[in-house]
Amino acid sequence: MIAYEMRKIGIFSELTGDEIGKLSEYVREQRIDKGVELFHQEEPGDAMYFILKGGVRIYLYSLSGRELTLAVLKSGQFFGEMSLLDGMPRSANAVTMENTDFIVLKRNDFLNVLHAYPIIAIKILKDMSIRVREADAMIEDFALLNVYDRLIKYMDKLIKTDGRKEEYYTVITHNIKRQDIASAIGTTRETVSRVLSSWQRKGYIRLLPKKMIVYRDMTLRRVQH
Ligand code: CMP
Repeated sequence: MIAYEMRKIGIFSELTGDEIGKLSEYVREQRIDKGVELFHQEEPGDAMYFILKGGVRIYLYSLSGRELTLAVLKSGQFFGEMSLLDGMPRSANAVTMENTDFIVLKRNDFLNVLHAYPIIAIKILKDMSIRVREADAMIEDFALLNVYDRLIKYMDKLIKTDGRKEEYYTVITHNIKRQDIASAIGTTRETVSRVLSSWQRKGYIRLLPKKMIVYRDMTLRRVQH
């Protein structure tokens, strides 16, 4: 059964049935409820997680206690590999965003698995390269964009992932909280609320319960703040 579930994880996709069978002896399945902190920054790392179904947010706390979201990981993705590879403490916090099913690989088995199945190591490296690229893009945004432009960029992404385009506007049905937006773009909930309200007053967007209407393309037409 677990071997069948493991097929859903891209990293294992090139292994033969036999190999998956052998590998499945190293791992266990775990279901964790929404909102559970899986581990915290600075703790020793004891396992790597593969997401079968659900979602996890990887985030940091600033000195002032503000949260910064580094990544939102979904089905088929993994995390918790860094501290197992470099022996350092956890680099970030992880919390479940919904009830989530995992495959868990314990620290002691991790290196054995990489030695036995180099293709898994290569796939992890590939994924880590993508994450470094995304982290570079985030650094660039923080260094070069102000909070308004970061919010516009965030809205652009939201329009692409959750937008339904009508002739003159786009409806975003995602029930996203202001605090989540703030954590994603490195600002406070109050600032997000203030800017969204100001855009609503200017007629660029309309805030409705559980959805938002965007009247103008936020990239083509740079809004005035
Ligand atoms: P680890 O340091 O063991 O614990 C936290 C995990 O969060 C880390 O391993 C990675 O799997 C993941 N992580 C840390 N930084 C990022 C990032 N910038 N993007 C995506 N995932 C990350």
